[in-house]
Amino acid sequence: MDEGAWKTLMRAAMGARAHAYAPYSGFTVGAAIQAKSGALFTGCNVENASYAATICAERAAMAAAVAAGERELIALAIASAAKTPTPPCGICRQCLAELSPNLPIRSYTDDAYAQYDLMSLLPDAFDRRQLD
Ligand code: THU
Repeated sequence: MDEGAWKTLMRAAMGARAHAYAPYSGFTVGAAIQAKSGALFTGCNVENASYAATICAERAAMAAAVAAGERELIALAIASAAKTPTPPCGICRQCLAELSPNLPIRSYTDDAYAQYDLMSLLPDAFDRRQLD
C-alpha cells in the first residue's frame, strides 16, 4: 500500500464514520477495507439497545467485503474521534484474522494515525488449523 492508497482508504473510513449509529456510547467509528481486487468496502459501528448486539465498524466492513465475494483483504483503515488512534477490539481482531492474519491496519484520528499489523495484535490466534 502506498501513501496515496492509504489516504483514499482513510477518507473512505472517515466517510463511513459519518453514518455510524452510536446513540449509547456516542463513540462513532468508521472502517474501510481494501480488497486484493482493488475494491473498497466500508462499515461503521451499529449499536443496539441490547448493548452486546452492537456491531463494530471493522466487522461491518469485513462483512461487506465478504458479501461481495472478496476473500483477500490487504489493508484496513479505522477512523474515530478518540484522543489517540484506537486499535481494533479483540472480537474484530479474531474476525479479521480468519481471512487476513497479516492485515496491515492504520487507525486515524483527525490529526494522527497509528499503524499495526494484525499478527502483532493477535499472536497465536485460534484459527481453522485447530479444528483439524
Ligand atoms: N467500536 C468499533 O466500532 N470498533 C472498535 O474497534 C472499537 C469499538 C465501537 C463499538 C461501540 O459501538 C463503540 O465503539 C464503543 O465501544
